[in-house]
Amino acid sequence: MNTPKRYTITAALPYTNGPVHIGHLAGVYVPADIYARYQRLQGSDVLYICGSDEHGVPITIKAKKEGISPQQVVDKYHEMIKKSFAEFGISFDNYSRTTAKIHHDTASEFFKKLYEDGKFIEETNEQLYDAEANQFLADRFVVGTCPKCGFEESYGDQCENCGTSHNATDLINPKSAITGNTPTLKETKHWFLPLDQYQDWLRTWIVEGHANDWKPNVLGQVKSWLDDGLRPRAVTRDLDWGIPVPVEGGEGKVLYVWFDAPIGYISSTKEWAERTGKDWEPYWKDEDTKLLHFIGKDNIVFHCIIFPSMLKAEGSYILPENVPANEFLNLEGNKLSTSKNWAVWLHEYLEDFPGKQDVLRYTLTANAPETKDNDFTWKDFQARNNNELVAIFGNFINRVAVLTHKYYDGIVPSPNAFSEVDEDTLMLLKKYPQIISKSIERYRFREAQNELMNLARMGNKYLADEEPWKVIKQDEERVKTIMFVALQIATALSILSEPFLPFTSNKLKDMLGVNSSEMLWGNVSKENVLLKPGHQINKAELLFAKIEDVEIQVQLDKLAASKKANKLENNPEASGVEPLKETIEFDDFTKLDIRIGTILEAVKVAKTKKLLQLKVDVGIDVRTIVSGIAQSFSPEDIIGKQVTVLTNLAPRTIRGVESQGMILMCDTPDGKLAFVEPDAKIVNGGRIS
Ligand code: MF3
Ligand code: ZN
Repeated sequence: MNTPKRYTITAALPYTNGPVHIGHLAGVYVPADIYARYQRLQGSDVLYICGSDEHGVPITIKAKKEGISPQQVVDKYHEMIKKSFAEFGISFDNYSRTTAKIHHDTASEFFKKLYEDGKFIEETNEQLYDAEANQFLADRFVVGTCPKCGFEESYGDQCENCGTSHNATDLINPKSAITGNTPTLKETKHWFLPLDQYQDWLRTWIVEGHANDWKPNVLGQVKSWLDDGLRPRAVTRDLDWGIPVPVEGGEGKVLYVWFDAPIGYISSTKEWAERTGKDWEPYWKDEDTKLLHFIGKDNIVFHCIIFPSMLKAEGSYILPENVPANEFLNLEGNKLSTSKNWAVWLHEYLEDFPGKQDVLRYTLTANAPETKDNDFTWKDFQARNNNELVAIFGNFINRVAVLTHKYYDGIVPSPNAFSEVDEDTLMLLKKYPQIISKSIERYRFREAQNELMNLARMGNKYLADEEPWKVIKQDEERVKTIMFVALQIATALSILSEPFLPFTSNKLKDMLGVNSSEMLWGNVSKENVLLKPGHQINKAELLFAKIEDVEIQVQLDKLAASKKANKLENNPEASGVEPLKETIEFDDFTKLDIRIGTILEAVKVAKTKKLLQLKVDVGIDVRTIVSGIAQSFSPEDIIGKQVTVLTNLAPRTIRGVESQGMILMCDTPDGKLAFVEPDAKIVNGGRIS
């Protein structure tokens, strides 16, 4: 047996300027929670930490708006956020806050160490200044055009559109967010972390070292910044809310929030260690520890470039093993927005759907924005609940529990000889822990959860095929075997669902009388049965309940009101729809020769993942087309299909094969491709006009 692995799992510290919504859960806290719970079930030594990010300009702005002090703002939201996480079963080992003394001390020490080791550049230069507000304009106090992507509402330190992190003086046409004035320049002294000096090291560590295990969206962003070239970044600010700069000349200045906040992971670890009498250092300094940062895509630069450079500069810390960042979740086609109240707030959700935490966790994982932005809709939420949780998972469990009580007073029967179907079912059951583990370890939580549901589907099908309620009339002995097998599946579900649906898992374990700590993940097998004959289960309880249309309508009405109040328009980009291309003339259109054809042959192009070589009858001739559809279709499934072909595209040689045209395809919501098919049978060569 391997020695247990040590994991330090961090989830981005949420800004404490508002409550948390579904976007937070979907992007960061649920995936990190699934991972942490899963690793605990593997017997790993897991530390899952978080806390409130209480410094920075957003807090100050909120305080100004509400006419209260920044401390009052953070006190209010810290409690709310902490409570929401607890209510949704986010199993942090510690939830701290960056206004805590332990954090101020830790961050100050960290800064001082870098300062004393000569890791900073100290420089006096001109910074943006708002004379009317009598204040320097850093970070969110200034907006302007992003020098990289041209987005007109970029903040001083980061562009929310392209994710780039820059210096406020880089903004084109900057405006003060306080007064709207065009800022002037004023000299001031700051400390800079010379990121340019870490550039080569970062490239070797990430681009060369993690090319195969980091997510493509993360690697892509990192590469693009490295290619642009890194420059020194100021890590101090002229603000009065934050951690005072602890060195000579630092009076009246504070640490940049993105310098102090990630150190919050370390302070939270220390706080946990003090509380539990443990040693914090192995979790941050032992080479055997795997450090994982769960974040949203807007945090990539800070967790992949800036924080690692800080850790490297300090010298005694480990670096993250992975930074599994997610893209964004949208809501009913629009970007989630705290200020526009376009959100599903967790505390409000629980008022409307008490006890249904797992339904939301389930839906968010099923739609997790793992590889691209994704959309949450209430209709989908309802369908996931009614058609999946109730109809598959819940239905299977209910049948098993009810029948076990009906036939055997709740006592697990002794099986007789297993049929071939039983053997196959138990064999497959045994594979599920592995299957689910594999997906989780690759940070593919949607896929993992779908496999969990496949197990429930398998259980449902097994009962539907074996029909114990009919067989009982002729063959009571056979029913014992059927129910025994079904009970094993139910038990496996109770354990394997724990990372995803912790409340359901507990309920189910209680119902089956399963003590999870005795039965670790992976222990499912025919020889090693989970629920022994003679074991008494408890009374059947419903795990899920149907959600009615009226309940969904209430939510849709709420959003409609919010839309009206905020004059929100449908934003095509947020709904995953690409923006309109530039207008073309009718003549441009008539140049395209698009026809219906039929696929006659299809083979994979050797040594490629994506390409199929097709023979397509397009009426005028039969031609070869190389198409990048192999990840969506197997060759044998598409023979005989009618498709749409751009027939007068200049031929191109792809992997040594001349491709004479292009098949028109469409993206599906689950990231695959679909054909554009005529809805009546058309003669090959029929023109689309
Ligand atoms: N507060 C930041 C945000 O919500 C995240 C901070 S993560 C940390 O985007 F690393 F700085 F802690
Ligand atoms: Zn930008």
